[in-house]
Amino acid sequence: MAFELSPETLSYIEKVIPRYPQKRSAIMMILHAIQKEKGYLSLEAQKWVAEKLELPPIQVREVVTFYPFYREHPIGKRHIRVCRTLSCALNGSYKICDQFKKEFDTELDDISPDGRVTVEFAECLASCGTAPVAMVDDKLYENLNEEQVEAICEQIKKETPAIDPAQAES
Ligand code: FES
Repeated sequence: MAFELSPETLSYIEKVIPRYPQKRSAIMMILHAIQKEKGYLSLEAQKWVAEKLELPPIQVREVVTFYPFYREHPIGKRHIRVCRTLSCALNGSYKICDQFKKEFDTELDDISPDGRVTVEFAECLASCGTAPVAMVDDKLYENLNEEQVEAICEQIKKETPAIDPAQAES
């Protein structure tokens, strides 16, 4: 199937390109917008961006593989990123990460069996003074402890419907 984007993302892309003297400079903004809509950057998406910006596809791929915040694989509906850099590691982020994994019965970087989340480690989230921290989608959670992680997981389960296993297999 041909690669398609929502009218909102397309309109954003059409607006963002003319803001740059050279259209190739809009590459990161466009990749972010597509990742926001699709959850990741497939090869079709990267090819689409290359055509849009009149670049060789390898140049788009170089950007996608260079920056750790771009993903080339699908993730769960919610994205949990636990900081594992020094302050957070010293304040228990590995335990926090284990708790998230256990709550959703999942492994690191996988999609949980209910489709709700992907749990990943992240490097410094720029909030070292309130370590340990984690992000759920765009929201930062600070000074995490076991009770807070439990509450965050409850909230995610309440807000995010699980995938029907029969549908997931079809
Ligand atoms: S070390 Fe975790 S936010 Fe900086």
